Amino acid sequence: MNPIPVIAIDGPTASGKGSVAHLVAQALGWSVLDSGALYRLTALAALRRGIAVEDAPALAQAAARLDVRFQSECIYLKGEDVTDAIRQEQVGNLASRIAGYPDLRRALLERQRAFRVAPGLVADGRDMGTVVFPDAPLKVFLVAAAEARAKRRHKQLINKGISANIEELLQDLRARDARDMQRAAAPLKPAQDARELDSSCLTLEQTVQAVLDMWKVISAY
Ligand code: DC
Repeated sequence: MNPIPVIAIDGPTASGKGSVAHLVAQALGWSVLDSGALYRLTALAALRRGIAVEDAPALAQAAARLDVRFQSECIYLKGEDVTDAIRQEQVGNLASRIAGYPDLRRALLERQRAFRVAPGLVADGRDMGTVVFPDAPLKVFLVAAAEARAKRRHKQLINKGISANIEELLQDLRARDARDMQRAAAPLKPAQDARELDSSCLTLEQTVQAVLDMWKVISAY
């Protein structure tokens, strides 16, 4: 058994997983893995190279060959800072579409597991608890009402100076939820031993505290 603990935080798009994972990792002094970034990086690389969304083998190859560097808050693709570029809706949507290809997911598996370093890892995504770190001692399934998530995403984009329409975001988000949940390969679903946390009516700080409280109980055993 791997002695390095992992807190897996899975959930639908815009449920706040990323922010919660970063703050929990900061509080514990652990590393963090934003697994969605790897799917987004693959999507961005595909867009730039003009790889068709139907070309599963070429996409899996692009995932296997990703030249990526995570450095503090920034993400580099082939040395270029793409931290903001991968957050565009177009990239997120393509990431969700190509994430259904099993070979592409396999190509990213070891890359994700390599983030597991002492003293611990907080990993966020869709299949952290079910596929990538099935032995994680704490698995959180973070949910929030679609309307609450659309509002958060809207605020995030506006703050970044990107224009956005809340109704379109809500539609997009529902489509992405459906695709992430219905795909055959590693669909979005809670692991059997996951604890569901609904953040619809919680602040970010309260959500982080709830995860830290769960960890405190588990790590005391
Ligand atoms: O978490 P995110 O919105 O950045 O992820 C973008 C897409 O990548 C998401 O719609 C589905 C895919 N993804 C996945 O299939 N598995 C993960 N562990 C993380 C993301």
